[in-house]
Amino acid sequence: MSFRRRQFLQTTAALGAALALPLRAAPRGERRIELIAAEFKAALDPAGAGQTRVWSYNNQFPGPLLRFRRGDHAHLALSNQLPQETTVHWHGVRVPNGMDGVPSVTQLPIPVGGRFDYRFELRDSGTYWYHPHQSSFEQVPRGLYGALVVEEERPPQVDREEVWLLSDIKLDDQRQQVEDYGRILDIANQGRLGNQLLVNGLVAGAERKIEVRAGERLRLRLINAASARFFRLAIEGHAARIIAWDGQGVTPHPLPADGLPLGPGMRADLIIDCMEKPGQSFALRDLGRPPAGAAVLGTLAYSSQAAVRNAPLKAPIALAPNRIAEPNLDKASDHYVVFQGGMRGTPVIGMVDGKPARIQDIMAKEGLAWTMNYNAQHEHALMHEPLLHLAKGEHVILHMINETDFAHPMHLHGHFFRVLAIGGVATPHREWRDTVIMAPRQAIDVAFVADNPGEWMYHCHILDHAAGGMMGTVVVE
Ligand code: C2O
Ligand code: CU
Repeated sequence: MSFRRRQFLQTTAALGAALALPLRAAPRGERRIELIAAEFKAALDPAGAGQTRVWSYNNQFPGPLLRFRRGDHAHLALSNQLPQETTVHWHGVRVPNGMDGVPSVTQLPIPVGGRFDYRFELRDSGTYWYHPHQSSFEQVPRGLYGALVVEEERPPQVDREEVWLLSDIKLDDQRQQVEDYGRILDIANQGRLGNQLLVNGLVAGAERKIEVRAGERLRLRLINAASARFFRLAIEGHAARIIAWDGQGVTPHPLPADGLPLGPGMRADLIIDCMEKPGQSFALRDLGRPPAGAAVLGTLAYSSQAAVRNAPLKAPIALAPNRIAEPNLDKASDHYVVFQGGMRGTPVIGMVDGKPARIQDIMAKEGLAWTMNYNAQHEHALMHEPLLHLAKGEHVILHMINETDFAHPMHLHGHFFRVLAIGGVATPHREWRDTVIMAPRQAIDVAFVADNPGEWMYHCHILDHAAGGMMGTVVVE
């Protein structure tokens, strides 16, 4: 019997045992989904023969698309068949702190062969995703991620919906992953980039088709699951509109002319009216970071059938808002977080294990390259002082000041925040987000109500940066 098979049977036996125990009464309508994290061989290129070793959920790469309705109760039963400890974090989903999947902060790491039951209510509709928070700089790029969609009670009328999980992977000439996770060179620079772009776990390119029929209205949910890559998406020949950032409705508005910016961890929902002629094809491109140049991610492929309608649907596309407490800026308290470090730029002094050190001097030895409020801490030593203490219900303006020469997608757990200003300029839509890009040397102001009690991670979603010091916590109590 193969190792894998034996393990599977053991899990099943353990499951049987678990089921024999008196179960906590499941909330009405609770949906139980089994997730098994394990090694897997993925065919990244359906046209090619080769397979690539990844880590994934349920022998699918990416993991299964988890779809719920707002108000559903989820029971996600994770079993860890990986060669390492793991956890699962439900990125963007406002869960109780104990279900947030952060090792050593909200739960113990799930041991090899162990299990953990995540149970929570889906309070907010939107586009989310899930991934480990244990050694995420390694486990995420190895392939552990999947999309999580929570449908609105009254979604906008569309003819078709697509979910595109964007990522990349670093392959050698045998089409296997280069296992160089956690190099200081990546930690202290722009993070570890792949050399092959992926769309839903398949090599990006013209063959990744979204098939539509002329006249249709398409909703495209985009998720950036890459550990360090920023995407900038452009859609040829179509005036797409953004209706949500990070799952939260925003006043519908067109894509920026230089592409839709999507940093690691971020999501956007688009509405695209497909008003071109039957049989035509249009490229979806990543404009990338100059001078890298554009890459084709996929195509919008019109079938040869006659148009379903000749004018775009009139139905409204704005999403009904989720119930998120509105920060009152008049009574909000100001908090500041300053970010320093990186391989370029002026030398930085930060506290490492309670002692001041010049970050550039200790980089190679400690694997640390970044500070938040002059502190650098290891991902696995998160029991340092929290960065911020907030009173439950406190209205907060958080000023993030990027004194580095690098861009950072900053992510806060357990809350959404309104983006008030970027570089001192008020944002036109004051959108809700859970992850926001700070450009090099840029300051960003966000506001939120600290209404979800617990200790929440606040970190850069370039996972190598998070491992290298750009990870702290915010306590709400
Ligand atoms: Cu998607 Cu703390 O992460
Ligand atoms: Cu960063």
